[in-house]
Amino acid sequence: MNEVILKVLCEDEAEEQKFDQIANVIDLYKKERGSLIQILHLAQEIFGYLPMKVQKFIAHNMGLPLSEVSGVVTFYSFFSTQPRGKHTIRVCMGTACYVRGGKKLVERLQELLETDLGGTTEDGKFSFEIARCIGACGLAPAMMIDGEVYKQVNPNKLESILAEY
Ligand code: FES
Repeated sequence: MNEVILKVLCEDEAEEQKFDQIANVIDLYKKERGSLIQILHLAQEIFGYLPMKVQKFIAHNMGLPLSEVSGVVTFYSFFSTQPRGKHTIRVCMGTACYVRGGKKLVERLQELLETDLGGTTEDGKFSFEIARCIGACGLAPAMMIDGEVYKQVNPNKLESILAEY
């Protein structure tokens, strides 16, 4: 992408550096067949999420229609077009956890966080997602915050767990 377009897309120098990194990723992978998903993954790691300006940048640099890039971004749930929270909460809704109260955890967290599943709290502190079995089935219901696994979680304890963050 030429300098002028890059300047229009970027809000500051830090952002410009992220676009540079994404441009490098595109250069590295764009000749490989089916590399769009991989490039989007890496771009999300670099930028934190995939807003429209990042999608436009990728489409332009890969010579693809924006509709194709946006179509992939919206199809896969692991891509996010919204900024992510500082911490990610994943409540397990695998069979064991679902049966043993996972749904109650989700409901209580929706109240406490004041956001729906897939959303991010207004203060940007937590993103809230579902997981499919996190390997703690014997001690269900389980959830994770970032890399930390919480087992046999009681919905009444959620408030104090969140307060640790
Ligand atoms: S089903 Fe929840 S940890 Fe396995």
